[in-house]
Amino acid sequence: MDTFTVENIRPGGMTRRQFIKSVIAAGAVSSSGLLFSGPAGAGPKTSPGAVERLITLAVNGQQRRVDVMPQETLAQTLRGKLGLTGLKIGCDRGECGACTVLVDDVPMYACSILTHSVRGKNILTIEGLARPDGGLHPLQQGVLDEQGFQCGYCAPGFLMATLGYLKTNPDPTRQELAHGVSGNICRCQDYDKILTALMRGAEYMRKG
Ligand code: FES
Repeated sequence: MDTFTVENIRPGGMTRRQFIKSVIAAGAVSSSGLLFSGPAGAGPKTSPGAVERLITLAVNGQQRRVDVMPQETLAQTLRGKLGLTGLKIGCDRGECGACTVLVDDVPMYACSILTHSVRGKNILTIEGLARPDGGLHPLQQGVLDEQGFQCGYCAPGFLMATLGYLKTNPDPTRQELAHGVSGNICRCQDYDKILTALMRGAEYMRKG
């Protein structure tokens, strides 16, 4: 009687070992099209409907080359691949605003947009706020002067949301600014001090 071993099972006439080898080889070939896809004509063609993975993003005034999965969010790319960890992830589902960045000057939740959708747009994160000489941005100075946050986890998102709002209304009332950043929440619930700090920052921005 035959002994039951990996060698004597023969799906389609092959030994099990041969069958597994053929499956692994087929997988390696099909994934190489994704891993090494590049500019048109520079390598294996991507399949119809597939997106090119190695792309260039304009982040904080720099052109950054990065390998991006089709389903990757901007928050994952910026934090995990470009090292911009000033961007925070709180809820990861478009509810808290901790991940707010500017995309072409518009505040957006980086956790809720796909990186591939912002190709060709200018992305600004909290790391891009400071002046070229290292001096603080007026909004950052306002937070420093008023000690606006407790734990500070939500601060980058609030600052980016404020900067975006001030581009549409540079001299807001306190109530207008509160409404303008209402898409951001603070787990310490220190909204009064946060608003005071952001209003101070807006004032510094107007003074230049
Ligand atoms: Fe993106 Fe909360 S982490 S909205």
